[in-house]
Order: sequence, then structure tokens, then C-alpha cells
Amino acid sequence: MQAVAIRRGSSSPAVIETPRPEPDAGEVLVRTLRVGVDGTDHEVIAGGHGGFPEDDDHLVLGHEAVGVVEDPNGTSFSEGDVVVPTVRRPPNGDAKGYFERGEPDMAPPNLVHERGITGAHGFMAEYFTSPAEFLVKIPPELADLGFLVEPISISEKAFEHAFAARSAFDWDPETALVLGNGSLGLLTLAMCANFERTFCLGRRDRPDPTIDVIEELGATYVDSRETPVDEIPDVHEPMDFVYEATGYARHACQAIEALAPNGVAALLGVPEPWEFEIDGGTLHKDLVMNNKALVGSVNSNRRHFEAAVDTLSSLPEWLFDDLVTGIYSLSEFERAFQDDETTIKTAIQFDNR
Ligand code: NAP
Ligand code: BGC
Ligand code: ZN
Repeated sequence: MQAVAIRRGSSSPAVIETPRPEPDAGEVLVRTLRVGVDGTDHEVIAGGHGGFPEDDDHLVLGHEAVGVVEDPNGTSFSEGDVVVPTVRRPPNGDAKGYFERGEPDMAPPNLVHERGITGAHGFMAEYFTSPAEFLVKIPPELADLGFLVEPISISEKAFEHAFAARSAFDWDPETALVLGNGSLGLLTLAMCANFERTFCLGRRDRPDPTIDVIEELGATYVDSRETPVDEIPDVHEPMDFVYEATGYARHACQAIEALAPNGVAALLGVPEPWEFEIDGGTLHKDLVMNNKALVGSVNSNRRHFEAAVDTLSSLPEWLFDDLVTGIYSLSEFERAFQDDETTIKTAIQFDNR
């Protein structure tokens, strides 16, 4: 079968031939429908994040997948079920407790593999196998957009953890700021509909398709070249909730200053090392004196995937028309990895039946 992989030493993905996997006991064989591409895939391809499976010269990419059960192999699934796989897998017994509790997302990164990202092949192949426990069944009518369940699940988790950090008092947030107008930022902005006023940060000139989405969602576009994140409270207003999805390390610090008293910022970006100067004393005092919280959040578990399925079916259709800028067949896979200003979210389509 064909798969999209990054080879050791290469800086661009390629289509490779690889054996079709055979499901072991307890595993399901899934025929892949679509696999999305996100900023993490670009970081993996560039060598800034993730890692190859031990003893392999390549990594099959892709962690945002949707497929159809081809062979349930004696599990509780049926042939034809539409499924989305979770990302983390236990490489050995060290993370056993986290998986047993259904919380692999809370395991330290060195104890887990992430399919398509680190240590284990991903889903960007005509078929993949997975233990049944790591597959989430979704309604068949969501098959076309099922590759968005994984990224939405990332924000389901981040929201849960950030809001839990404000659960000890009467918190009534009104304002939300999303840092980043990539696919994660825009999906998350769409999930902020309960806030009274929303803002989204980018660094683009108009006209730009992401600014159009921001404004169609009723949010205010903030250009970081004109308004640095720490100046947002003066230019606009202080934010009760900040969601960082730029991977721009300075934003982790500036988010503290963008927060209103009692606010919380969720940090999602996965930056590379970058040293810069900050006034640590002022930030420390601000966090303490204003009861602010900073929450890091990575990955997501089955519960977040299930919540993401509900969210996916509740979001307006126009959003996906605007957000999904390209679905590409395997023969034009390179276009799915294009990273220009006309691209928001892309996916590779494997099944043309
Ligand atoms: P993406 O498509 O690369 O989006 C990042 C966006 O941030 C881009 O649109 C970029 O603008 C914008 N940006 C970067 N620096 C900026 C700045 N200084 N000012 C204003 N805008 C800036 O990536 P993504 O897929 O949306 O993911 C976002 C981040 O979250 C990545 O770091 C990714 O690795 C991380 N992530 C984390 C998790 C997790 O579990 N924690 C899950 C998924 C993704 P331009 O396009 O104009 O450059
Ligand atoms: C994936 C997560 C993963 C994280 C860190 C994200 O793009 O969606 O599942 O845990 O990257 O590798
Ligand atoms: Zn991702």
C-alpha cells in the first residue's frame, strides 16, 4: 500500500510503498478516508519536534485521521463503522497507569509514543491498524470532516483544564483572546461562541482568508505587528481567557499581561528553544497579585474526542467551507503540505470509492 512518510535526513515528505498492516488480536484494520495536516506536521517534517520509530529509516506522517472499519477482527466494531483514532500509544509498561485511567494525555512525553509524531508510524497510509480501545466511533455523516475531531479534541482538553483552574471561585468570563490564526486557532475561536467578546491575533495584511473567518465569527482581528500581545488590554480590553496557538514563545509571557485579574491562559504552542529577556519579577507579581493562571495543555483523551464529535456537529457549515482550503488525493499530496497564505486547513484523501 502507499503511505506518506518523512525519511531520516530528508526535509520533505514522500509517497512510499509499505506493507499493508495485519491486525493482531484486539486490533482493527481501518481503511483510511482522510488525514489532516497541522502545524505539528510541519514541525515534525522540519525536525523541530517528534522522532522516528526506533530502528526505522522513516516515519509515516499523520495524526488527524478518519477511516472506515475494513476488518473488525473480532472486536466490538462492525465493518463499515466510521472511526477516528486517538494519538498516544504505550511503548512499554511505564505509562500503564495513565492508559489504564484513560488519561494518556497526562503522561510525560518520554513515556508515550504519538502516532505520526514521535516513535510510532502515523495514519497517512491507505490502511492502518489500531487496538480497538484507541478508536472512537463517529456518526457516518461526519466522515468527510472527521479529520477535524482530533484538533478539536485538543481544545476540548485545554478548555477543560483552563476552566478547572478557575473552578474554585465564581468566575464569569466575558472576553476571550485566541493567539494564532492557524487551523487550531481558528477552530478554537469558533469554539469560543459563549464569550461575549472575542479577539484573534495574527500577523497578516488584509485581504486574508483567515481574517475573513475571524470577522465572520464575530471576533476582532488583532495584528501583532501593530498591537503586541502585552498591549492588548490598553488598546482593546483585558482578557478573561487567552488561548495561545502560535508556538511563538514570547506569547507565553505576554499572555500574562493580556489577562484580566482572575483570568487564565492556556498554552498550546510547541516552540523550539529561544532565549529572550523578560521582566520575571513583574510577571511573577502580576500572576500572584491578580490571581492569574497559566495552564499548559498537550494531547487529549477519549473523553475529549467524544466531546469533539459533538462540537464538530454543532459548528456552522460555512466555517468548514472557509477553513478547509484543500482536500488532495495521494497523487497531489505535496499540495497538502503547502504553507502559504491561501492555505488554512488541508487533508489528504486516501479513499476515492
Ligand atoms: P499553524 O498553522 O502554524 O498556526 C500558527 C499561527 O500562528 C500561524 O497562522 C501564524 O501566522 C501565527 N503566528 C505565529 N507567530 C505569530 C506572531 N508572532 N504574531 C501573530 N501570529 C503569529 O499551527 P496550528 O496547527 O494552528 O498549531 C498552532 C500551534 O499549536 C503549533 O505550535 C502546534 O505545534 C501547536 N499544537 C499543539 C497541540 C497540543 O496538544 N499542545 C496540538 C496541536 C497543535 P502566519 O501563518 O501568518 O505565519
Ligand atoms: C497533536 C497532539 C500531540 C501534540 C504534541 C499535536 O499536534 O495534535 O496529539 O500530543 O501535537 O506532539
Ligand atoms: Zn495536531
